[in-house]
Amino acid sequence: MCGIVGYIGKQEKRALLIAGLKELEYRGYDSAGLATLEKKCPVLEIYKTDGKINALENLTQDFTSKGEGVGIAHTRWATHGKPSATNAHPHVYAGSAIVHNGIIENYATLKEKLQKKGHVFSSQTDSEIIAHLFEAQLQAQNLQSAPTKEQALQAFQKTIAQLEGAYAILLINTHFPTCIFYAKERSPLLIALAKQGIFFASAPSALSQASQMVRLEDGSIGVLDLHTPFKLEDLGTPSAVIQDSTQSDLEGFQTLMQKEIYEQYKVLTLLGRIKAQRVHLELPKGFLENLSCLSVVACGSSYHAGLVGKYLIEDLAQLKVQVELASEYRYAHFATQAKELLIAISQSGESADTLEALKLAKSLGLNTLAICNTQNSTMSALAHATLLTHAGLERSVASTKAVVSQILTLWLLALELGHKRLSKQALQEQIQALHASMQAIQDALELHPQIQILSAQILKQNPKGYFFMGRGVFYPLALEGALKLKELAYVHAQGYASAEMKHGPIALADCSLLSIALLPQNLLFSKNLSNVEELRARDGLIFAISPTPIDNATFQIQTKPYPHYMPEFFSMLVVLQLFALEMAQLKGLDVDKPRNLAKSVTVE
Ligand code: F6R
Repeated sequence: MCGIVGYIGKQEKRALLIAGLKELEYRGYDSAGLATLEKKCPVLEIYKTDGKINALENLTQDFTSKGEGVGIAHTRWATHGKPSATNAHPHVYAGSAIVHNGIIENYATLKEKLQKKGHVFSSQTDSEIIAHLFEAQLQAQNLQSAPTKEQALQAFQKTIAQLEGAYAILLINTHFPTCIFYAKERSPLLIALAKQGIFFASAPSALSQASQMVRLEDGSIGVLDLHTPFKLEDLGTPSAVIQDSTQSDLEGFQTLMQKEIYEQYKVLTLLGRIKAQRVHLELPKGFLENLSCLSVVACGSSYHAGLVGKYLIEDLAQLKVQVELASEYRYAHFATQAKELLIAISQSGESADTLEALKLAKSLGLNTLAICNTQNSTMSALAHATLLTHAGLERSVASTKAVVSQILTLWLLALELGHKRLSKQALQEQIQALHASMQAIQDALELHPQIQILSAQILKQNPKGYFFMGRGVFYPLALEGALKLKELAYVHAQGYASAEMKHGPIALADCSLLSIALLPQNLLFSKNLSNVEELRARDGLIFAISPTPIDNATFQIQTKPYPHYMPEFFSMLVVLQLFALEMAQLKGLDVDKPRNLAKSVTVE
């Protein structure tokens, strides 16, 4: 992950770099830094700090970098070495400074070799090696005078050739104050050209001054110079910069997460894909015909959406679906089937594991479909077809409205896959359930004040752990509820299929364990209730979420009744989101940027 920004031109560089970093803060926010060089006095100016971009903004408030020159900047999500000013990028060695997004897997071997030659390293990062290697390559050329750009590019190419792993790298050097050297492999890097200069960034949102950009291909290495004209077409296929700024305001809400939960009903627009009792998906003709099975890959909340999709597709289309964590799929050894379709689900369209799983499936000859929220993402560029989830830009790190839109898209896909076997009446019932689900998302918001009170009561009880339990689609919902609580409120939470409780976890049940039981009226209600009784019999605390009053529950949120289990599902999803939000807020935590997390996970 991490976000990188670069600029070559005549504008004031500090403001420009910080504005770019703010757009990329969702990629990591534990430390940040910038480096500039000016042509008239080519000395590296370096500022680094731990903390968020605001900290860097404060640190550099009296600094400006006007005039022709270059700047690079970085917002970090620590992989090697703690978040600290020392480990923050840019990393500097001699006359070079670098920023890096990705992981250099063989850095330890390379570092050891250089240390033996006398190099002293300042940080614990893998990235610092790049600046050292470059300077070592320059030295190895035994130059009598300053290197030419061609010699420096050669040294840079030899540097990159030694790296194993994933990287988007920008390098500046005091000999070349109007140049940025760049390299890209398995981490995103975009270049844009505008009248103000040349821009580099990890994502389009940081390229707001330009209208056209190029997404570099893996293996790209080069140098751009303000004084060497070039066309974007020389670097790749230009596309429009989508000006989807991440900096817009909260519109009256306290947090982005709350705003995004409250605007979830807008995914209703996805139901526009239903016309004349048939789902119309923007897919190539015949794409879904005669499939033998489906494999789904995703991470985190998107994986949970995939699991919900499995229940829906298997039920409605009678098609076998296998859902795998992308990080496991990409290293597994398995046989594929003829007419198998691989679906990659991702809000960002950039998660490294999902991306690699998608590439693997393609290389094995499978047809691939990306279900993505981000237009122009790497995944949608790579997959044979894409279904956009149209949730709108999601900025809070914890996924909420994107998950709702993924589940809805998978439900529509299930209906399309099953259209030949579903009767007119069955289809009509499904469409009614879809509309009721959208209403349920809205209705559940009315429970917010109650959830707030109940969260305070639960916090007071200080449970030692939180179990979430459900059956059928409510099982992945239990997983999702636990993930949300864990990532936002920093408490130990675990999701279970209700009946699994007695196969081990129930050993933990006592009066300090809270179990959050999802008890829909329309899906295995009495089976679920029996599992709740088993926990109660062992003094366990129960937080029941159900439209039916549950006698022996310690706490209850009574959701509205609906005639189908899917609106019940969406209603409970909102309750769980609000519960996690309130628990975190009561603890005074930053819900939009939880510690140790990032919105786009571009490392494996
Ligand atoms: C949890 C969350 C993460 C993401 C996961 C996948 O709230 O947001 O678990 O769901 O990192 O991200 P995408 O969907 O962008 O591939």
